[in-house]
Amino acid sequence: MRTFLKLVVCAVMAIQSVTARSAPLAAGNVSFPKYNRLSMNDTAILLIDHQVGLQALVKDFDTVGFQNNVLALASIAKELNLPVVITASVPEGPNGPLMPEILEMFPDVAVVSRHGEVNAWDNPEFRAAVKKTGRKQLIMAGIVTDVCIAFPALSAIEEGYQVFAAVDASGTFNEVVRYAAWDRMSQSGVQLMNWFSILCELTRDWRVHGPVMTDIILKHLPEYKNTMITFNQTQSTN
Ligand SMILES: *[C@@H]1O[C@H](CO)[C@@H](O)[C@H](O)[C@H]1NC(C)=O
Ligand SMILES: *[C@@H]1O[C@H](CO)[C@@H](O)[C@H](O)[C@H]1NC(C)=O
Ligand SMILES: *[C@@H]1O[C@H](CO)[C@@H](O)[C@H](O)[C@H]1NC(C)=O
Repeated sequence: MRTFLKLVVCAVMAIQSVTARSAPLAAGNVSFPKYNRLSMNDTAILLIDHQVGLQALVKDFDTVGFQNNVLALASIAKELNLPVVITASVPEGPNGPLMPEILEMFPDVAVVSRHGEVNAWDNPEFRAAVKKTGRKQLIMAGIVTDVCIAFPALSAIEEGYQVFAAVDASGTFNEVVRYAAWDRMSQSGVQLMNWFSILCELTRDWRVHGPVMTDIILKHLPEYKNTMITFNQTQSTN
């Protein structure tokens, strides 16, 4: 009998939810932000505090996967010739130097070493470097998400920049902290993206940027690399 009642209740609920879904959307003008695409001509990439000592704090990604994500984002900047701003917080202290791969990739970029400012945006040299890029869309990534990315992201939004946080090239202590930081940022208008969606939105068309897309994918997205190789093999055996 109980089971029968439960079934009836479930059936009624199911009917209600179908009715609710098929009803027209509630009256009112709900407005959503317009689709604000990354443009190669408007974008700069800001790499913030990817320091070897701070990497020990990143627990929301596995170490190898995280490094790969950071280097993928850096490669996007490099291969698409985007302006890059790099900063480190007290690199002579326990935070340690920047990831050597990043330094090697951008030998001509002067690293802004901060000697106190937690929020990179509080450092005049950093702000000047960002301004000098002339770009209004800023992609930020770094360690830790809740501090080294969230703080400058919120500051830059306030100054009228469009800010995109590269969430998989930014890491922190655990998932609770990460979600709180993502929530805080996105409520203020920061867009959360991953390196692959950044690559695809910047390049937009395989016919124009196929070689760059392929190169970065082959280096940093092994799953798709395998798909490409398998596809090539089937092509050549046909
Ligand atoms: C939506 O806004 C327009 C223009 O302000 C108005 O004419 C229309 O009645 C609104 N629609 C609803 C469903 O409120
Ligand atoms: C960027 O600028 C180039 C050269 O002016 C132009 O051909 C291209 O369409 C622009 N790209 C975007 C996404 O606006
Ligand atoms: C697939 O084949 C094309 C054409 O021969 C080649 O340019 C490309 O590098 C190959 N890709 C991979 C992943 O082997």
